[in-house]
Amino acid sequence: MKRTIRDLKNIEGKRILLRCDFNVPLDKYGDILDATRVYESLPTIKFLNDQGCKLIICSHLGRPKGYDKFLSLFPVAVYLMKHFPNKVKFCPKVTGKEVDEAVKNMKNGDILLLENLRFDPREEQNDPNFVKELASLADIYVDDAFGVAHRKHASNYGVALKLPNAIGFLIEKELNVFAKAFENPARPFVAIFGGAKVKDKLLLINNVIGKADTILIGGGMAYTFLLSQGYNVGNSIVDLDLVDEAKEILKTAKEKHTKIVLPVDHIALCGNKVVKTTVLEQDMVGLDIGAKTIKLFTNEIKSAGQIIWNGPVGKYEDPRFKKGTLNVAKAIAKSSAYSIVGGGDSVGAVNSLGFGNKIDHLSTGGGASMKLMEGKTLPAVEVIDTL
Ligand code: 3PG
Repeated sequence: MKRTIRDLKNIEGKRILLRCDFNVPLDKYGDILDATRVYESLPTIKFLNDQGCKLIICSHLGRPKGYDKFLSLFPVAVYLMKHFPNKVKFCPKVTGKEVDEAVKNMKNGDILLLENLRFDPREEQNDPNFVKELASLADIYVDDAFGVAHRKHASNYGVALKLPNAIGFLIEKELNVFAKAFENPARPFVAIFGGAKVKDKLLLINNVIGKADTILIGGGMAYTFLLSQGYNVGNSIVDLDLVDEAKEILKTAKEKHTKIVLPVDHIALCGNKVVKTTVLEQDMVGLDIGAKTIKLFTNEIKSAGQIIWNGPVGKYEDPRFKKGTLNVAKAIAKSSAYSIVGGGDSVGAVNSLGFGNKIDHLSTGGGASMKLMEGKTLPAVEVIDTL
């Protein structure tokens, strides 16, 4: 069992470096468009702050190449200031003299947010000197940045090796949800997979076969599976080099008693006309599941005990092809099953379609939740001490 912040004793006055994932979407005025990740970090921040430690928080935001004023964490500092009035300060640097000075001036119960870690290229390189500079700021390290836990960066991997450490409540919650989902699922366990490419989901599907009762496959990846069964897929997206693998997956699923449901009809583009069809002709590009498939999928969802969803089942960003994803989201929202949505695209889809608050667990990690669903461990969690 990993050490958590509950196991940290006598931390009053201690300097704690807390790694969060505040990688939130901002608009051009710097306003936070979706604060879920910051909001989900509040219980850990509050728990540590209540104990009177000096809390130094760090995070990345976006993928800047050097300094980028549009990717400053200042808007997040403003958000935190509202939740912890008179306690939060923002330091416009990542490490160096200004940060050292700011940390020196902290009183018990103060919170200091550092600027975007990725403004320093050494962060992603897990550079030993950068690790040293970060570690020198604190007595204890706490990782609550689930979204980036599949990466080995200085602030979430290197530093953990240098300081006494623990995980926060958000990482703990995410790990527990995914562990329970695979070890002890409520049945029938229905997994829904979509997204454009089969190759991105191979490990995921392979890990779920034998564990889930049913897998519903939609999105661009469905066409490779359909092609492997001899169906015509027209000009739809296919991973030609993975057709044999797709065939093998369907065979293994049968052997392991996991039912796989593929689309039986489609919404396709034919020239610039949108058509409903059960057969994809040569000049058609399938871009969403059709009405019969929606019915098949929603029936499975209705009777599920647990649902895991990763990847939209159509090109939902285009209003002409969003019906499938919308209906899947609606069906999950209505269902009494325990529901988990993981993966950046699916979480974005659920939120933009207005069903976010109807999902039991909306993961704060895209790549990180994928790794857990693939049955892998997360390096930034592995490096945390066990009890
Ligand atoms: C995410 O948004 O998935 C995390 O914050 C990780 O971001 P990254 O893919 O840029 O490392």
